[in-house]
Amino acid sequence: MHLISIDDLSTADIETLFKLSDGFLEIASRSIKKVPTLRGRTIINVFLEPSTRTQSSFELAGKRLSADVINIKGSSSSVSKGESLKDTILTLESYRPDIIVMRHPQVGASRMATRYTSASVVNAGDGTGEHPTQCLLDLYSLRRTYGDLQGLKVAIVGDILRSRVARSNLFGFRKMGIDVRLVGPPTLMPPGIEYWDVPIYQDLAALDDVDVIYLLRMQLERARGKVPPVPSLREYSRIWGLSSLKVKPGQRVMHPGPINRGVELSGDLADDDRSLILHQVESGLAVRMAILYQCLAGSLTEESAG
Ligand code: NCD
Repeated sequence: MHLISIDDLSTADIETLFKLSDGFLEIASRSIKKVPTLRGRTIINVFLEPSTRTQSSFELAGKRLSADVINIKGSSSSVSKGESLKDTILTLESYRPDIIVMRHPQVGASRMATRYTSASVVNAGDGTGEHPTQCLLDLYSLRRTYGDLQGLKVAIVGDILRSRVARSNLFGFRKMGIDVRLVGPPTLMPPGIEYWDVPIYQDLAALDDVDVIYLLRMQLERARGKVPPVPSLREYSRIWGLSSLKVKPGQRVMHPGPINRGVELSGDLADDDRSLILHQVESGLAVRMAILYQCLAGSLTEESAG
């Protein structure tokens, strides 16, 4: 099984991943956090763009499942010597990996990788394309917090234009019955957004009646020399930044990280009880263990599943 887009999964597939994640979450509370499930399997994490959370949680997920895990990182890989993605994948294929987890600055890179390897490929973020495992961990965090996802109201706020998280989350959240709206200035909405058939608001008043406010970072490094769509981060923060005062008592705040304190949210909101940011990270490890397991589930014998 590959996981390239959140659309690769049905609601039943997502429910199965939640069930598996419940088990893996329990393992994380034990003193010995390792299970033999993927013993003898090889996982290669190819991260050709910076990452803290996604990279560390995939690495730890593989290790806790007892797989052999190696990590290829952008600046230290041969990509910085001009090697093409095709040649990088063909080279790694010589090791007969079972799973390749890939983060890449170009949209479609993970899908392309599936052509050159017989391993399962997991998209850990492809440019402004998709980030399906972020969507799954966010859904799992919401499931743990609210139980029922049906009818939950979520506003995704900020730099939708360059956010692969916004894309995967919009489609994945809706699949699970969540009512999603997008909020932000028109310059931060992607062209063609009218075809997404989603309510768009240009005012923070649109947050008043939602259960969850999902904040995004200004992803300026993805602007690639284009004119920034907002005059300055200070200006953005003044109009769109959230502080704990602007968040209603029962509301929760989510963010995929990395957060920029003082830009899209104030430091006090990041540390507030209503923030699920670290809960998301905790959910991410269990969900990524479930994803790695599920990629190979068809090939695991009962004995190796331990
Ligand atoms: C996101 C990403 O890389 O797309 N972060 C993450 O994976 N936790 C969001 C971002 O970069 O702002």
